Amino acid sequence: MEFTIKTDSPEKFRTGCLVLAVFADGPLPPAVRAADAASAGKLSRLIASGELEAKAGSTLLLHELPGIAADRVLLVSLGKTKDFSDPSWRAALTAIAQALAATLAKDAAIVLDETALPPQRDSAWALRQATRIVADGAYRFKAPHTDKKEARAEKKKRGAGKVAFLLAATGEAQEEATRQGEAIAAGMALAKTLGNLGANVCTPSYLAEAARTLAKDRPYVAVDVLGRDDMEKLGMGALLAVARGARQSPRFIVLSYDGASHGKAHKGKEGGKDGGKDGKPKSHPVVLIGKGVTFDSGGISLKPGADMDEMKYDMCGAACVIGVIDAIARLKLPLDVVGLVPATENMPGGDATRPGDVVRSLSGQSIEIINTDAEGRLILCDALAYAERFKPACVIDVATLTGACVVALGKVASGLFTNDEDLAGELTRCGEEAGDRLWRLPLWDEYQDLLKSNFADMVNTGGRNGGAITAAAFLSRFTHAYKWAHLDIAGTAWHSGEAKGSTARPLPLLAEFLLARAARPQ
Ligand code: BES
Ligand code: MN
Ligand code: ZN
Repeated sequence: MEFTIKTDSPEKFRTGCLVLAVFADGPLPPAVRAADAASAGKLSRLIASGELEAKAGSTLLLHELPGIAADRVLLVSLGKTKDFSDPSWRAALTAIAQALAATLAKDAAIVLDETALPPQRDSAWALRQATRIVADGAYRFKAPHTDKKEARAEKKKRGAGKVAFLLAATGEAQEEATRQGEAIAAGMALAKTLGNLGANVCTPSYLAEAARTLAKDRPYVAVDVLGRDDMEKLGMGALLAVARGARQSPRFIVLSYDGASHGKAHKGKEGGKDGGKDGKPKSHPVVLIGKGVTFDSGGISLKPGADMDEMKYDMCGAACVIGVIDAIARLKLPLDVVGLVPATENMPGGDATRPGDVVRSLSGQSIEIINTDAEGRLILCDALAYAERFKPACVIDVATLTGACVVALGKVASGLFTNDEDLAGELTRCGEEAGDRLWRLPLWDEYQDLLKSNFADMVNTGGRNGGAITAAAFLSRFTHAYKWAHLDIAGTAWHSGEAKGSTARPLPLLAEFLLARAARPQ
């Protein structure tokens, strides 16, 4: 999909579909008034008639409106003026995205009225969100091994390929915001596809290949892939314990994106007072860790059969980390970021880890594995220990970690746990900005008592009560060296039922976070 920004008048703009957002009550936004006048008041009469439903996101498609150059006009409700906020604006944009993905119009123009934005929001924010939502709305998963030719041909006919935003005024900030939205949507498409692929295709080595492709195609990205032998040498006993039952061999993927270091080198700065031993600027990267369990059968603590297919999504944290690095590399963001992906299947087998086995993690702490289905924290704890070597500015892990988090927060918010108050505020705000929200849960010491073991430093599960919290409490034992946040995305990473598919969450939130970090003084 191609995006442009223009300042043309809406009523004269030749396009397949002109999109106008209006309030259910109150006056027409200024940008819509001229179009209403050109159509001799037809738009305002239609709105007054109640034909367009009041609820934010309701749509009405009109054809060949007199006085308007566009073939179609899509009216979208922003809801009632008094309720206007980020969610209603977003609902309108999501409806626009759906309509544009299904239309026969080849191109479209969305009128973006700067005076009809939610409180505190500017046109750059609106363009970044709108571009991302509209581009993401056009995402289609192309399943391998299927050939539904007719259905594909029918779908090919639909969807606007070119979208223009019509604004009163534009500048560099607006152009940049649109590029950001596009890059984020592209990263989301990659993350969604990795999530949607079956576990027979999307194996640990497939994830490693995806990371290698990024390193080949994007600037400042490098990758190092560790295999089983390397993990053994390092002493990643917890990750290896999960991988034992699997035929697919595990991978530990280290992606690095050196945007800040390169940016500085280009400006001719040779380290300066911040310089490291090799003259390069000493960097404190943001480290992102993604849970990469390509299929979670539960292992010997086997899961029940119902909906087990959804456990192919247990690598969505990994997909999100790979996707967000794709997005920031497309933007050449001046920031250093490291992505760590411990990747393995969790399978039963003759050599699989048994409940009761004790293993030694990379950190040196021993773990009594009492439930092999609590595998995510085992692979993450070795990645958390590995992260120390980067002297990170902060570490954020992203994981489909617990069913308990879905029970607590449903599919609306991801769970947030952190040992740093500033990071809590920063991540929460970025979640609001991106419409990809978090809700914080506690990490109090009392929860640690549930992890006591008679045979090791800790057990790997604290039982049913507070399951999302005890999982985070387990992880916290490996994070004393840095500022850390854990995002439990078990409820938000994919949709179930008819709309089954990966959401790429929390990629929009992480992208917003990295954009904000790149913009602040380092
Ligand atoms: N991948 C699952 C968590 C999960 C479950 C995500 C359902 C989404 C939907 C994780 O590895 C797991 O199995 N967690 C267990 C932990 C328990 C054994 C302590 C769980 O949540 O049941
Ligand atoms: Mn599990
Ligand atoms: Zn899992």
